[in-house]
Amino acid sequence: MDHLTALGSLFDSEGRHDPYPAYDVMRAHAPVFQAPDERWYVTTHALANRLLRDPAVRLADASDYDQFWPEWRENRGVASVVLSMLQSNPPDHTRVRRAAAATFTPRRIAAMRDVMTAQVEDLIKQMPAEADFMTAFAYPLPVGVICALLGVPEADRPWFRQRAHDLTIVLEPISTVEEMNLADVAGRELEDYFVGLIAERQKNPQEDLTSALVEAGAGGTLTGEELLANLVLLLVAGFETTANLLGTGLHLLLTNPAQAGRLRADHDLAPAFVEEILRYDSPVQLTSRFATEPIDLGDGVTAPPGAALTMLLGAANRDPARYDDPHRFDPDRPAIQPVSFGGGAHYCLGAPLARMEAQVAFPLLLTLLPRLNLNGDPVRRDRLVLRGFSELPVTTA
Ligand code: HEM
Repeated sequence: MDHLTALGSLFDSEGRHDPYPAYDVMRAHAPVFQAPDERWYVTTHALANRLLRDPAVRLADASDYDQFWPEWRENRGVASVVLSMLQSNPPDHTRVRRAAAATFTPRRIAAMRDVMTAQVEDLIKQMPAEADFMTAFAYPLPVGVICALLGVPEADRPWFRQRAHDLTIVLEPISTVEEMNLADVAGRELEDYFVGLIAERQKNPQEDLTSALVEAGAGGTLTGEELLANLVLLLVAGFETTANLLGTGLHLLLTNPAQAGRLRADHDLAPAFVEEILRYDSPVQLTSRFATEPIDLGDGVTAPPGAALTMLLGAANRDPARYDDPHRFDPDRPAIQPVSFGGGAHYCLGAPLARMEAQVAFPLLLTLLPRLNLNGDPVRRDRLVLRGFSELPVTTA
């Protein structure tokens, strides 16, 4: 298989179920190469890390979309992503990120540990003898945590999973017209939901993140459009990725029983285990940018201004130049530091929260459910970018 065939395999369902052999072929060919679609694909840890931090490498933001797709605002799924900080550039990104980070304080995150522990214990108690781990645990935990932070009432929470699933198709490199229509509907429904919550908090502010962001909006730091888009982003980014970390992590632990036994016996190993799970099977597999000036890609290769760059985070995390025996799950690796949360100005705002959820969940799952085991074949999500399982059948007794 050559590097272009390997790349092509990522775009079919079969190939993307296990993208790692394809990543190896591409990386062995070059740390970065240009495909016939003219896009540059980056496969190494060092180069992905460097480009994510390069100020000459930017996101396609609303003004870029105006040029290549003037009707983009009509699809509210696309609009809610493009209008959020995830897809903005300085100075807007700096202003909005600062406002969001100010509400997402270390104190607020630290206070979530007890909430998480209580939710984990509850979900474990309620788990039936035969369960789909994604439905019974991996989704409800991060949905519950981000909704508690945002102040979303409990009764509304089950409604979000399908909407987030439909909306996040806009992050995929390829989608069908039907999928884009579903993303539009999901975007509209999520916007309507948050319009209601914003109005409610304008009347009755609470001690939650929505109220804090509404206040930043009232103070003129955020436009109404930015407030709405970033509330949708925080909700969706807050659980769609974390659910995949929990599902993927549990699968890895149950297929590596000796390692699971170590974590069961010593809960202090949780941070190293979670970093290695993030490295081994990154919940976000790629992110894209473009060059605003000529960019040195190493080995005498230069990307011209306007070049589209895709950082294959999943490939970077299995780079043999950075990790010995990269296809081995090994939580004892020194300084794991995967690129799973990105890097530079857009480094994941929720990383401390996601890490904490996984660090609380895995030791408690292994200890309170010592007979937890796989029960048949899991089903992979049919997505390249947001990697995980849609079903993970388990038995608890
Ligand atoms: C950005 C991954 C959990 C909120 C990002 C980016 C990555 C990422 C790779 C950067 C994207 C880019 O550079 O293009 C993950 C993973 C998670 C996770 C793997 C879980 C395992 C969360 C949680 C939240 C969150 C729990 C919120 C509570 C955000 C936000 C951004 C972001 C707001 C945009 C930051 C910016 O553009 O400045 N995430 N994320 N994420 N994430 Fe996460």
